[in-house]
Amino acid sequence: MNKSTYEPSRSRRRNSQPQKPNQSNKGKNLFTLLSILFVLGVFGGGYWIFTIKNNEVMATEHFADNAKVLLADIQEERDQSGLANKKTIDSSDQLKVVVYTPQKANLPFEDLEKDLQTITEKNKEQTKKDEMAVIVSKVTLRHLTDQMDRYQIISERYRWNEAKREFIKEETLEDSPLYASQQTGKMITAKDLIPSEADLLGIQQVIQQKILDQSDDKTMIDKVLALPAISFDSEFTYSPEKLTVVLPKNDTGVDKITLDYKEIAAFINTEFVDPSTIEGALPTLDPNKKYAALTFDDGPNPATTPKLLDILKEKNVKATFFMIGENVTANKEIAKRIHEEGHEVGSHTYTHTPLPGLSQEQIQTEVRKTDKAIFEATGVLPQNIRAPYGAVDVKTARITAKPFIEWSVDSADWQTKNTESIKRQVLSQTYNGTLILMHDIHPETVDAVPAIIDGLQKEGYELVTVDTLLSSRQKPLHQYFGVGDERVVD
Ligand code: NI
Repeated sequence: MNKSTYEPSRSRRRNSQPQKPNQSNKGKNLFTLLSILFVLGVFGGGYWIFTIKNNEVMATEHFADNAKVLLADIQEERDQSGLANKKTIDSSDQLKVVVYTPQKANLPFEDLEKDLQTITEKNKEQTKKDEMAVIVSKVTLRHLTDQMDRYQIISERYRWNEAKREFIKEETLEDSPLYASQQTGKMITAKDLIPSEADLLGIQQVIQQKILDQSDDKTMIDKVLALPAISFDSEFTYSPEKLTVVLPKNDTGVDKITLDYKEIAAFINTEFVDPSTIEGALPTLDPNKKYAALTFDDGPNPATTPKLLDILKEKNVKATFFMIGENVTANKEIAKRIHEEGHEVGSHTYTHTPLPGLSQEQIQTEVRKTDKAIFEATGVLPQNIRAPYGAVDVKTARITAKPFIEWSVDSADWQTKNTESIKRQVLSQTYNGTLILMHDIHPETVDAVPAIIDGLQKEGYELVTVDTLLSSRQKPLHQYFGVGDERVVD
């Protein structure tokens, strides 16, 4: 029984004996698994943290190494920039800030250090918190022409891209460029750009024509003729591409005007403008050719001028007509035809009274009434004036504010009134660059013109307008007798 009871008990024991280790094995396995998981967890997590940490360290190292290379390149560029630079470095693991301050004397900036600091701060503000970047602030310098430098304060940012292992250049911050005279290092002013009072008056004429071109108002001509002259005290906004002028108080409705340098190329120091803006602006003469300009005074005259225009048209020659205002008013259609057929129109005053000796008001009236008559007939303000009898003095020149066109060959047609003599006189006296004086009010002159044109062309002359002969470089307060014979009125 015992045995039997033992047996089962043994057997139970036997049965239970393998059960016991079974149970403890399970627990062990679970424990092992947990342990392994734990170890894996600890090591894995540790490794994970380690990897991240390591990547950060690596990224910082990559950034630092590459920043060194980048900054060395930038340093080299700075060394070659022509600006002796003072370098300031502000460096952390994340951000390297380098500010180059030029140490050159005569810079056009008012407070360069402050401007550099401001732009650097702005660039820093635009840098994201987790971004690794190099910020470089500096001044760039370009020699635009032999006499003009362009300075600009800029701030660059190079963002480190760890995935690509490269710097990516972000948008560069730029201050407005400053343009300085190389000679003085100072900002270019209207006085640098516009050499003289005569040039300023030349620009005034361009402004007047421009306002007229932009207006449909029929009364604008009176307002334009009354426009007070700009001066060096006027406000100018300069750039190498164009010039803006604030006009003195006036009735035209235009308070400021922007001029392309092409329009005023004759009146500026072209060393201070972008050369591309004035390309082909002024006519040039071929030094291997001979030129002369036929000029006709005192018209238009209904009996003689249309016949002359027919001849010029047939010969395909362009001439210049210095018209008397009174005659323009009486013969608007002829004046219009002169302009439409490509001839140049100039002023010869309103009543053909000698200007010196007239009062300021009288001179002004002579000039403005003629300007108005010619403008109303042709749409252009006459730029040039020929004084009656060629008589001009300083006072007249100032009030008139136009270039005075004299002459170098006098046909003496008004004296001889003889076709053969007029022809002989012109052909025998003309040389290269001459201004030839004739009068289209005499039938004998008109009759002499075909032979004069033929004779001069046979000798190799090209017949051009006054503007072309003088390369459009004539200016107020000066008088012109021919190519290379320019004199200040005194
Ligand atoms: Ni005359």
